Amino acid sequence: MDVSSPIICLLLHSLVFVSLFYCNNSLETRNPLVNQTFQSEDELVKLKETIAIRLKQLNKPAVKTIQSPDGDIIDCVLTHQQPAFDHPLLKGQKPMDPPEMPKGNNQISNLSESIQLWSLSGESCPDGTIPIRRITEQDLLRANSDIRFGEKFNHQHAVQVVKDAAYYGAQATMNVWNPHGESKSVFSLAQMRIMSGTYGKDLNTIEVGWQVYPKIYGDRRTRFFIFWTADAYQHTGCYNLKCPGFVQTNKAIALGAAISPISTYNGNQFQISLFVWKDEMTGNWWLRYGDKNLGYWPTSLFTNLKNAAARVHWGGEILDEQYEQASSTQMGSGHFPDEGYKNASYFNHIYVIDSRRLWIQPTDPMIYADRPNCYNIIGGLDSSWGTYFYYGGPGKNKNCP
Ligand SMILES: *[C@@H]1O[C@H](CO)[C@@H](O)[C@H](O)[C@H]1NC(C)=O
Ligand SMILES: *[C@@H]1O[C@H](CO)[C@@H](O)[C@H](O)[C@H]1NC(C)=O
Ligand SMILES: *[C@@H]1O[C@H](CO)[C@@H](O)[C@H](O)[C@H]1NC(C)=O
Repeated sequence: MDVSSPIICLLLHSLVFVSLFYCNNSLETRNPLVNQTFQSEDELVKLKETIAIRLKQLNKPAVKTIQSPDGDIIDCVLTHQQPAFDHPLLKGQKPMDPPEMPKGNNQISNLSESIQLWSLSGESCPDGTIPIRRITEQDLLRANSDIRFGEKFNHQHAVQVVKDAAYYGAQATMNVWNPHGESKSVFSLAQMRIMSGTYGKDLNTIEVGWQVYPKIYGDRRTRFFIFWTADAYQHTGCYNLKCPGFVQTNKAIALGAAISPISTYNGNQFQISLFVWKDEMTGNWWLRYGDKNLGYWPTSLFTNLKNAAARVHWGGEILDEQYEQASSTQMGSGHFPDEGYKNASYFNHIYVIDSRRLWIQPTDPMIYADRPNCYNIIGGLDSSWGTYFYYGGPGKNKNCP
């Protein structure tokens, strides 16, 4: 993610005065919820009512509700009532059946796959429904409470990049960690980002991976996430199912839900495999998690990604609050890539789909780190892992002040 705030604007679109405060002002906006003297009790009541109305739009009626041990509430929502079908371009549609994923050399390594906490006890959503993580009043208030628009956010990347060709899909297997973050409003994530268009203008992206982001989720758990934008993070797109867009077809995996178990330093490694590919027939971008097709981004959501992607990035990204100094927000395992297997975080089995619609290993990927002394990346190729890299780091240390 390059900018998180417009998403919140979108989310808060109907909280009229809040979005006026935050989405139109640029610098030095103050937090109206924490430090605002409301003119009257009435005003506060009105805000609460507005939030209640927004929640009713966001959270669809559930045929079954599951309480996850981590505190999340999972609503099983009829597939045709999911948020996607509020989108003007998708209204009245029904979820499509998954197409076949292009065949190829896309073996998944055989380590334990991570699963989700809410379904650990055997709970599941009925056929014809999908699990959706419920958005709470607290989520809306918190997401709003420390946004600082117009500030330069400090993003640090350690990524592998392919570009200047036409890509119809991408995949990777990544091990899952729980990086420490210095404050509640920073994030640390690992993702595959499929892109086309120009940064700051008309960039289209599809992003999938895991993240720790207290501001969005209210805790420091590691969560499986998806994201999209069709205009460089300005007005379109969101995380998970927080806005109409992604059409979910799978009843076993909840977007934004906590992942369990996760890898431990010098211990057991747990990983997820993610695949995104453009269906040749419909042009829709499909998502697969392990052996499960989760759903698709309809091609009509996009401008540039109506066609092939022009670049793919894999790797870690953190968002920091401070600019001049490094923080101790960790990326990946919080250890440098040269510590290797079990100690450093990795991506392996990296493939793209080329214009012949075949999975191929990127032949000449670039690797790139904004500040290698804080977070670094080392690439490699071998017969069991294919194209892979180790990435990550501790942030602040003696070489990264
Ligand atoms: C609210 O703002 C006032 C004036 O800007 C400041 O003095 C006060 O400390 C703030 N209170 C909180 C709780 O932030
Ligand atoms: C996993 O694969 C490795 C080599 O790729 C093999 O040595 C190992 O036996 C496999 N483990 C299982 C549980 O299949
Ligand atoms: C991982 O860390 C442990 C504990 O510090 C160390 O004993 C081990 O050698 C490390 N592994 C590698 C590959 O460096």
